[in-house]
Amino acid sequence: MSWSTSGGPGHTRGDGAVSAHAPAKINVSLAVGPLREDGYHDLQTVYLAVSLLDTVTVRRAEGLSVTVTGEGAEGPDPVPTDRRNLVWRAAELLAEHAGVAPDAAIAVEKAIPAAAGLAGGSADAAAALVALDALWGTHATRGDLTALAARLGSDVPFSLAGGVALGSGRGERLTPVLARRPWHWVLGLADGGLSTPAVYAELDRLRAEGRLPDGAAFPSPEPVVAALRSGPVEALAAALANDLQAPAVSLRPALRRALRGAIDAGAAAAVVSGSGPTVAALAADEDAAVRLAAVLAGEGLFRTVRVVHGPVPGARLVG
Ligand code: C5P
Repeated sequence: MSWSTSGGPGHTRGDGAVSAHAPAKINVSLAVGPLREDGYHDLQTVYLAVSLLDTVTVRRAEGLSVTVTGEGAEGPDPVPTDRRNLVWRAAELLAEHAGVAPDAAIAVEKAIPAAAGLAGGSADAAAALVALDALWGTHATRGDLTALAARLGSDVPFSLAGGVALGSGRGERLTPVLARRPWHWVLGLADGGLSTPAVYAELDRLRAEGRLPDGAAFPSPEPVVAALRSGPVEALAAALANDLQAPAVSLRPALRRALRGAIDAGAAAAVVSGSGPTVAALAADEDAAVRLAAVLAGEGLFRTVRVVHGPVPGARLVG
């Protein structure tokens, strides 16, 4: 997997800027256990990094500043540009770890929508860690960055690692998985996000009312891993699973129609990505994905659609 933590002059453009990309993720399977005492849930997930990338560009500056352009930058509930933005905390954490001042102007160009179940904020944090490590010459090891990533959020270590991985704990403990072939998907992006804590809370509520199984035992991830490794597409289609889908649909009933619409339009299978509301529709191959996207774009079930493939690498320097 191509991955670099050492930046230095080779990665610094003439204007002193350093850029890094990081990918969105799909949870190909996601099994969620009961609520833990710390407010998180143990989970078992198979993460897949896909080719929808955010770009974070950092420059030397006095103090810390964040600007956001692209997906989620405008509108009634824009992506924050202060300490609530995970890149801000990523900068503070790396600076503290390295014993340097957290001085940087950070520009986030978003293609991944926020609060969409695609780990967009986590991707930005992972890209910021990699870019700032290069800008500041902190020479953090991969292990250092992964530990900082886990402190920033459950999905941030995977945004750094990319590829395919089995996630456990609250999602931050990763075991890489080999996938020899690319998989093609259409992402159906919704108008408006869903709050991850709200979706987990809805899962707990539906379980407490006995309307969903309690999640005490995780199914084996082996069928998903085997299908991802070597197919066929029908095997992967049959293995898609997400315990957060029912609570996401409960909070956003229109998702039921969107999922059905994706199947009717020719998807091999469709699943809510993470805590939603993005729908990940699996296609047999690249041509089928392009056709599926064209049909779905014409139906108005989604705000917009994106054709993606994965696995792709995790956060890495551009250029
Ligand atoms: O780790 P992260 O900050 O992304 O998590 C956001 C929220 O999602 C947590 O505060 C928690 O409510 C919920 N969550 C959870 N169990 C996980 C991951 C996230 O309950 N494994």
